[in-house]
Amino acid sequence: MPVFISSIPTIEEDDLKLCKELLSKNDVDDIDVKLSGFEDKKHFYTNTGRASLYTILKALEITKGDEVIIQSFTCMAVVVPLKWLDIKPVYADIDQDTYNISFESIKNRITDKTRAVIIQHTFGIPAQLEKIKEYIDEVNKDRDKKIYLIEDCAHCLNIKKEDKYLGSFGDVSFFSFGQDKVVSTTQGGCIVSNNEKLEKKMEEVYKNIPNMPARTVKYNLRYPLLWNFIKKVYYKPKFLANSKYFSKFTFGKFLIILFRFLGLIKSQASINDFGSPQKGVFKLSCKQKHLLKNQLDKIERLSKHREKITDKYSRLLDLDLHGSLIRYPILVDYPDLVKSKLQKIKVIAGNWYNYPVIPRGIDLDKVEYTIGTCPNTEYIVEHILNLPTGLEVTGKEAEKIVHIVKSHLI
Ligand SMILES: Cc1ncc(COP(=O)(O)O)c(C=O)c1O
Repeated sequence: MPVFISSIPTIEEDDLKLCKELLSKNDVDDIDVKLSGFEDKKHFYTNTGRASLYTILKALEITKGDEVIIQSFTCMAVVVPLKWLDIKPVYADIDQDTYNISFESIKNRITDKTRAVIIQHTFGIPAQLEKIKEYIDEVNKDRDKKIYLIEDCAHCLNIKKEDKYLGSFGDVSFFSFGQDKVVSTTQGGCIVSNNEKLEKKMEEVYKNIPNMPARTVKYNLRYPLLWNFIKKVYYKPKFLANSKYFSKFTFGKFLIILFRFLGLIKSQASINDFGSPQKGVFKLSCKQKHLLKNQLDKIERLSKHREKITDKYSRLLDLDLHGSLIRYPILVDYPDLVKSKLQKIKVIAGNWYNYPVIPRGIDLDKVEYTIGTCPNTEYIVEHILNLPTGLEVTGKEAEKIVHIVKSHLI
């Protein structure tokens, strides 16, 4: 079975059947869907993780001229909502062994204008929350305007750090159900707040968010079906195999180009298009909530699988990473070369994050990142490769992957 790290890696037959059913219905009932560990909290569902972050920033009344500290080893999805609100992103460096924001770096970035720190649990590796929280609580004692802690749980769901779920440490947290996330509704996001006052504010902002347009709901439910089809035929006999120019062109690649041209599948982030809140912030549809629930009912099995594959990689590569990682990060000499070697065994690996703020090639002035300010990030982005841990990866497959990558580790 081919492995695709970034395209609905955990969607199964029952999810596909549900997508078809949902597409055939006019309307479905709204349902109450809760994430593990947050059963007693109110959930605010949005169309994407970035829309969730935007909603949080609005509720916290963080606005033009304010600063928010984020890690530089990240995705433009985190920067976009800041830009929508004219908030300045201030980049902190990461720790090399966890890929998460460095405590020391945060300390150096706090100014009078800082209003929040976003703590990202990269790849599902828990960040140093307790230490950061303790420090911020101390700093807040002398400030009129509090610095909030926002947990970015886009890479983690159902993960605990010492008996406490990730997402329950900060003031407020958001999750993503994008096409490459732990569970997927093609696009989707959710907010939970650990502070009742803030929950009330969130309600105020959330009630004014429009519903998702019907065509977008359709797009989101059709996407898993289309990708499932693409995966099945991806490596089918080389299309135009005898052509000098198109010999590497598989049927799957042809379909991707065709579906992209028809607007049936889109990439998640575009370097030239930051979008706008008017076009990019909606409530999650009820139909997608049903798809989400179907996957959340299976979350224990999905998490255990990722944990097992993570352990296997760590054992075979002699690295110290554990837990249910959404992707397994390694540092290699030539990531593109290793990636192409993996493609030969039908494994498409990932590149979160091969640039300070991906996608690679983004205008760094536009995202306000200055080269030289985060040396650890700048080193890692040149060497990072992500190995898949989703359901498509069996133990045997993990061994084959390790066989290829091992000699390239740095
Ligand atoms: C670290 C991080 N945070 C937030 C997001 C936002 O996700 P979404 O694509 O749902 O807006 C992403 C997306 O990949 C991400 O990688």
